[in-house]
Amino acid sequence: MLTNLQQQPADALLALIKLHNADPRADKIDLGVGVYRTGQGDTPVFTAVKAAEKRLVETQDSKAYLGPEGDMGFVTALMPHVFGREDPTTQGILQAGRIEGMQTPGGTGSLRLALAMVKKAQVRRVWMGVPSWPNHAQICADLGLELKTFNHATPEGAADIAALRAAVAEAGEGDAFLLHGCCHNPTGIDYTDAHWDEIAGLFAGNKVLPVLDLAYQGLGAGMDEDAYGVRRVLAAVPEALVAYSCDKNFGLYRDRTGALYVMMADAAQLPAAMSNAHALARANWSQPPDHGAAAARIVLEDKALTAQWLDELDTMRERMRQVRARLAAAGKTGGVDLTPLGGQNGLFSIIPFTPEQVQAMRERHGIYFAGSGRINVAGLTVGNIDRFIAAVADVTG
Ligand code: LMR
Repeated sequence: MLTNLQQQPADALLALIKLHNADPRADKIDLGVGVYRTGQGDTPVFTAVKAAEKRLVETQDSKAYLGPEGDMGFVTALMPHVFGREDPTTQGILQAGRIEGMQTPGGTGSLRLALAMVKKAQVRRVWMGVPSWPNHAQICADLGLELKTFNHATPEGAADIAALRAAVAEAGEGDAFLLHGCCHNPTGIDYTDAHWDEIAGLFAGNKVLPVLDLAYQGLGAGMDEDAYGVRRVLAAVPEALVAYSCDKNFGLYRDRTGALYVMMADAAQLPAAMSNAHALARANWSQPPDHGAAAARIVLEDKALTAQWLDELDTMRERMRQVRARLAAAGKTGGVDLTPLGGQNGLFSIIPFTPEQVQAMRERHGIYFAGSGRINVAGLTVGNIDRFIAAVADVTG
């Protein structure tokens, strides 16, 4: 029976890790999978997380099961950061108890659960701006959800609000929209605050279900700034799903730490919705891994550790801004213009390389990034950025 299974291609993003590792050149550059790197090229454990882990090891007295919802202390402690402690946009929703969450294995687990709920709720179609993170489409396909796409960005490099407007007009009640909350992966091109104001109205007026993927909060403009869109949309609609990842903003990548938040029109509707989320989790992974969420909870429940964590996030964001400014300053480089990268957000940007140029960057220069031309700007440092810019000029010139 198992020989019926056809060979599948390796995941293109994850395959880059191995390709880069296999290159013997000492000066190779990894701009592939989305992990933050310091100016020295490392991806260290956050100091606040390390302190929390120590405390966890010393105080944890049991590893008995917690249930499909995981560490609810973590889920609750994260909420003020996601939805705003004193944000007037979301205060009413929080006071009415209209949002409940659960822990998930990373952002992917959260998306998987959100989209499985969408499917179970008999949502007709999922709409998504493209290009997008490749796993979005893969999860939809795996769940048998019909996916409709529209342009995420204009050729000039702005978010294509007209395309979203047209998509919402064509959709309607019974359809879901999957949007990136901030730091769009792969383009780095985010909707502006004015766009989000409009999107909130469009969604409310057309009765579509928002599914908001917030995987990079704090890596764009700041914790509150990066949640603007999510909060505006939640305030406008009766129901929404928010898939949250702590992989990047707590540096917990392999510990698979995330959460799914469900907002209903009325708090009384939450138990039924959450019972479905719990049942789907049980059938998928039973219960999420504990360690990362427990460490993040300890950070979030401790004022000093929270301040330290937010400080570390500020440093990351500032470094990425500096890298982007240096790229933008290079301007026209060979056949491409790096200027727009300065105004984009988060880890990723796309440089319009041809497939041959992507290959030439790998073979001639030992510089690895996705075939789409997506680079992880955090892989660039003072030590390698000039070489990167020279290589771009070489292969595109
Ligand atoms: C990425 O896009 O590189 C990250 O989100 C990591 C992943 O799981 O693909």
